[in-house]
Amino acid sequence: MLEQTITPATWKEIERVGKLVRERDDAWAIPRVSGEFLHALVLAGDFRRGLEIGTSYGYSGLWLGAALRHNGGTLLTLDASAVKVKAARAAFARAGLDGTVTAMHGAAEEILPQLPGPFDFVFLDADKPSTRRYFELVWPRLAHRATLVTDNVTSHAEELAAFVAYVRALAGVCSVLLPIGSGLEVTVKLDTDIASGALDGADWVI
Ligand SMILES: C[S@@+](CC[C@H](N)C(=O)[O-])C[C@H]1O[C@@H](n2cnc3c(N)ncnc32)[C@H](O)[C@@H]1O
Repeated sequence: MLEQTITPATWKEIERVGKLVRERDDAWAIPRVSGEFLHALVLAGDFRRGLEIGTSYGYSGLWLGAALRHNGGTLLTLDASAVKVKAARAAFARAGLDGTVTAMHGAAEEILPQLPGPFDFVFLDADKPSTRRYFELVWPRLAHRATLVTDNVTSHAEELAAFVAYVRALAGVCSVLLPIGSGLEVTVKLDTDIASGALDGADWVI
């Protein structure tokens, strides 16, 4: 039933870019199941101000962009590779998402400090050793109840273990690993009053 939130033009690009990334040596992309989950998560959260760190050829950006367009929001995605950003921009245009998705070329460590935010949804999927650095740059730019998803927590478990431990120890955070695709760590920035325990749990426990 994804036809209601993904147009035929976007579907065509999801399939085309999905095929392209399977064929190329320089392309890594989330598997389709992660795309479906991220798409549904953005719809469920009614997120409007999306940020993606690590565009590559635009596969995950197509899934995210379609959901953000449905919500009336936007996606800012960035990547250090000029070749990939150029290809991703063309994919977003063919998908009819050029009014929703802006693809920026540049290093995350240079672009992130300049972004004003706030964002309410972030997908973190760039070079794994810098994951904590990017998280620290983006976390102050997140709205309360924003959700940040980090990819590869299962596939790169050893490399990301210290980052995951760091995130889970932060105050005002709910962070869980969902065994979807390469392992998605879903980190929610809590409201200040919930984080401080000021709310009666009965008000928000489902
Ligand atoms: C795993 S791929 C992203 C895949 C994409 N999210 C998808 O699922 O379609 C990681 C990307 O991070 C980019 N990257 C690596 N170092 C970077 C940096 N310092 N700043 C920005 N992007 C970077 C690479 O060029 C690569 O395209």
